[in-house]
Amino acid sequence: MSCLHIKHLTVTFETLMGTVVAVDDVSFDHESKETLALVGETGCGKSVIASSILKLLPDNANLSGEILYGDKDLLRLSERELADIRGQEISIIFQNPTLALNPVYRIGDQISELFRVHKRASSKKSKAYATSLLGRMGFKDPEHAFHMYPSQFSEGMNQRVLIALALALHPKIIIADEPTKGLDDQLKEEILKELMKIKEEKESSLFLITHDFDAARNIADRVALMYCGQIVEIALSPDFFDEPFHPYARGLLKSLPSHDFAPIPGASPSMISPPEGCRFHPRCAERLEVCSHEMPEPIKKSGRIIRCFLYR
Ligand SMILES: Nc1ncnc2c1ncn2[C@@H]1O[C@H](COP(=O)(O)OP(=O)(O)OP(=O)(O)O)[C@@H](O)[C@H]1O
Ligand code: SF4
Ligand SMILES: [Mg+2]
Repeated sequence: MSCLHIKHLTVTFETLMGTVVAVDDVSFDHESKETLALVGETGCGKSVIASSILKLLPDNANLSGEILYGDKDLLRLSERELADIRGQEISIIFQNPTLALNPVYRIGDQISELFRVHKRASSKKSKAYATSLLGRMGFKDPEHAFHMYPSQFSEGMNQRVLIALALALHPKIIIADEPTKGLDDQLKEEILKELMKIKEEKESSLFLITHDFDAARNIADRVALMYCGQIVEIALSPDFFDEPFHPYARGLLKSLPSHDFAPIPGASPSMISPPEGCRFHPRCAERLEVCSHEMPEPIKKSGRIIRCFLYR
C-alpha cells in the first residue's frame, strides 16, 4: 500500500544566474512501512524533494505536480493544515543537527514541548515522555541530558536529539536527510539501528536520503537513484546493488572504494542549462544516437522503473 504518491514533481529556483531546475518531473510512490533510500551525487535534487514533501522550501522556489498523502495533495494545503501534518504524520530529520535545534532552549524542553502542544499532555507527563525518549536514543543519563543545551552536546548527541524530536509523535512517514552525515562509523551504525528499531515498532515508513551505499544496501527495501534533477532508476535494493540497470548506476557503483574505485568520466551537469536529450549522455559510455537529442521517459521494466533508451 502506498502512503505517498509523488506525481510529476518539478521544483525550480529563480536565481541571478538563471532558473535552476532542481527537480524535473519526478514521480514515485513511497509504500507504507517500507524503507526507500534516495541516492545520487551532490546537488542532484535529493534534499529539495525531501523539503517539497512538507513544503519547507525558500521563497524563490516554484513547485508544480502533486504530492498525494491519503486524499490530500500536500502541495495544495494551507500552512495551518500542513502544521497539523508536520511532526505528527510526516516528520523530517535534517542534515545539520546543530543548526536545526534551537540553541536557547534546553534539549528536554524542545522535546517535551511537542507533547504539550500536539498531545495536550501535562508538563509532568511531557517531561516523563521526553526523558524516556532520550533514554531510548542512547543517553545513559536521560535526566541529565534533559537539562543540557545543544551547544553542550557533540554533533552525534544532537543528531540523536533530532531523531528523538522527529520520532516523538510517532509519525507515519519519517524523512531522514543524511541523518548520519559527519558522524564516525560506530555512531552511524548505532543511530541507524535505533532509527530502524523505532520505525519497525511504530510501523512507520522511512524515506532515507544518503550518500552511504552500505547503509542503503543494508537497510533499504528499495533504492531510487537521482541524476541531475531526475530519478533514473528505482529497484529493489538487492536488484539495484547486484545488477544495476542504468549506466549511471553501474558507473556509480564501480566508483566506490569497495569496487573498482573507477570514477565516472566528466563532470556533473549544470542544473541551469542541463544537457539536451538524456541528461547523462555526455558521460555515458553506452549512449545511442538518439540519446543526445531525445529525453528518455521513465518506463517499468522487470519490476523496476528505468529512464534509459537501452531498455525501451
Ligand atoms: N534556495 C535555492 N536557490 C537556488 N538553488 C537552490 C536552492 N536550494 C537548492 N538549490 C539548488 O538545487 C539543486 C539541488 O539541491 P539539493 O540540495 O536538493 O541537492 P542534494 O542532492 O540534496 O545535494 P547534497 O547531496 O549535497 O545534499 C542544487 O543545484 C542546488 O544548488
Ligand atoms: S539514455 Fe542513452 S545516454 Fe542515457 S543512460 Fe541510457 S544509454 Fe546512456
Ligand atoms: Mg542534500
